[in-house]
Amino acid sequence: MEKEKKLYQSLLTEDKKKIIKDTAPILKEKGEAITTRMYEIMFNNYPDVKKLFANQPKNQNQVLARAIIGYAENIDKLSALSGAIEKIAVRHVKTNIKPIHYPWVIDSLLQAMSDVLGDGATDAVKKAWFAAYWFLANILMKREQELYQEVA
Ligand code: HEM
Repeated sequence: MEKEKKLYQSLLTEDKKKIIKDTAPILKEKGEAITTRMYEIMFNNYPDVKKLFANQPKNQNQVLARAIIGYAENIDKLSALSGAIEKIAVRHVKTNIKPIHYPWVIDSLLQAMSDVLGDGATDAVKKAWFAAYWFLANILMKREQELYQEVA
């Protein structure tokens, strides 16, 4: 786990972290438009995902996108995330989230960023968010795999 963490952390370079921090305010400001668009794209492109969210109360599912955007603000204090990661992983295992689902979210999020931010969603911005997403996603997938094994 520690080895993987280091590897993913090394992909999330300082210049990428700076971009994440710089774009956090605009993403927060446009957060609702981005999350709404993200779910539209995801449900449209990956209809199977609807089943995963089927039992959630209205608007509750936006928690996922908001968490990703909120995480940008803590990009420098990733160790502070461990409590949140455990909670998310437990929830994901209850909802049967699997590694195959992870590309769907980032794919839809990057597309939504382009749609809402227009020219603001430069390649550099999207690459930084891609790296940040996978950093977090890999930690979650690893913990979820352990939890699935425990309940198997
Ligand atoms: C880095 C990636 C992700 C982050 C940061 C994230 C974050 C979160 C958070 C914060 C919650 C609420 C946990 C709680 O109960 O407090 C959640 C729940 C959930 N996530 Fe994720 N998630 C990620 C990836 C995914 C993926 C790939 C899927 C599937 C496409 C997914 C589907 C769900 C579902 C269905 C719930 C339950 C919704 C609910 O409790 O209302 N998540 N996620």
